Amino acid sequence: MDVLEKCRAWTAEHRRDAGGDCYYRAISETFDGTEVEFEGARVIMAASHDYLGLSADARVREAAVRAVRRFGTSLGGSRAVSGSLRLHEELENRLAQFLGQEAAAVLPSGYQANLMLAPLLQDGDYVFSDLSNHASLDEVIRLGEAKERKFLHSDVAHLKELLASAASEAGKMILTDGIFSVEGDICVLPEMMKLADAHGAHVVVDSSHDLGVLGPNGAGVADHFGLRPLLVTSALSKSLASVGGVIAGPTEVIRYLRFHARTSMFTAAASPANVAAALAALDILQAEPQRRARVLDLAEQLHNGLRALGYDTGASVTPVVPVLVRGRERCLRMWRELCRAGVFTAPMTYPGVRAGREVLRITLTAGHTDEQLARLLAAFKEVGRREGLIPGTLHEGPAPVRIVRPATLPTTRAAAG
Ligand SMILES: Cc1ncc(COP(=O)(O)O)c(C=O)c1O
Repeated sequence: MDVLEKCRAWTAEHRRDAGGDCYYRAISETFDGTEVEFEGARVIMAASHDYLGLSADARVREAAVRAVRRFGTSLGGSRAVSGSLRLHEELENRLAQFLGQEAAAVLPSGYQANLMLAPLLQDGDYVFSDLSNHASLDEVIRLGEAKERKFLHSDVAHLKELLASAASEAGKMILTDGIFSVEGDICVLPEMMKLADAHGAHVVVDSSHDLGVLGPNGAGVADHFGLRPLLVTSALSKSLASVGGVIAGPTEVIRYLRFHARTSMFTAAASPANVAAALAALDILQAEPQRRARVLDLAEQLHNGLRALGYDTGASVTPVVPVLVRGRERCLRMWRELCRAGVFTAPMTYPGVRAGREVLRITLTAGHTDEQLARLLAAFKEVGRREGLIPGTLHEGPAPVRIVRPATLPTTRAAAG
């Protein structure tokens, strides 16, 4: 059969609606990272993971511009040969220190940072992975040679059972997201690390959504629990307001992976602008904890505002706020209606989530204002009632959410009086 046949069949099947008018839609302008121009109207951007609102920060922008002036737009080669700058090394040292690890490698994307794990997953090894992990962690399992064992989402008993059934002398690795990118809940890292110890396994955490958000130092889920997993990976495209990825861990592991992971050896170096932006964002992240306090406060108000309207935000206790919609058609229709009402959300349907688990994901940044939050909630009220997703009047809504925050981080609401 012609290799293109699948494209024809898919197009015929999805001619009318593959959600085609909801995905890959172009935004024409951005305003401070909190609003965008979409289809001629200015709408609230509630689907960006720029948690600390730093993509619009003048210091971050200026750092990127300076790097372009000094080093150009591209290094034109892989880090292994001609593309390594002192700037990459500076970011690697800073990130390793920040994440409490010995060493780090910076990659052009978070996806590639996770693919770096492939050489550790060899024939005869086992890899245990949470069913809700990000697609890039699924991908590295396909790329590696280890036997795959998926455990039910955050189900420690299931993980224990799977670990116990693996050959005791085999190499074992457990993969988990820190904050899960759709559910918004936090991984059970202490329990996983205890099990890992008992079964001779290592733990790898993808901290893409918790770096900058969780922990007394804002260094993510390991910081939150005061633990040190073997390796931490993260995208730089969220709290660090850039594009890129990092993998951090013991020096000998990072060095080994640099030479053995094809995703590092055979790909162009992260661009100078992106590296400089991440460095500047890291400075601000560390110097201005009030940004973290703001994004946590806003998230708590968002959760509870939605819950007061009758929406369910699931098990999330973080700034990743999933609005349970259930049903692909309904999810896409809600997305369109919310855009018309002035709010740009992220419609998560298959393959982003399993069929039947559709959500509209909302993420606000430290840059969003109380007025924007109020407008967002008004749009959800109007559209949800019209679409029959929430009741006209609510007698008893779901219990309020207490966002997870370090005791040492004051709330910006209290500070504002
Ligand atoms: C948990 C998680 N890991 C990895 C990635 C991939 O990062 P990047 O977009 O930089 O490739 C993402 C981004 O969507 C993510 O949410």
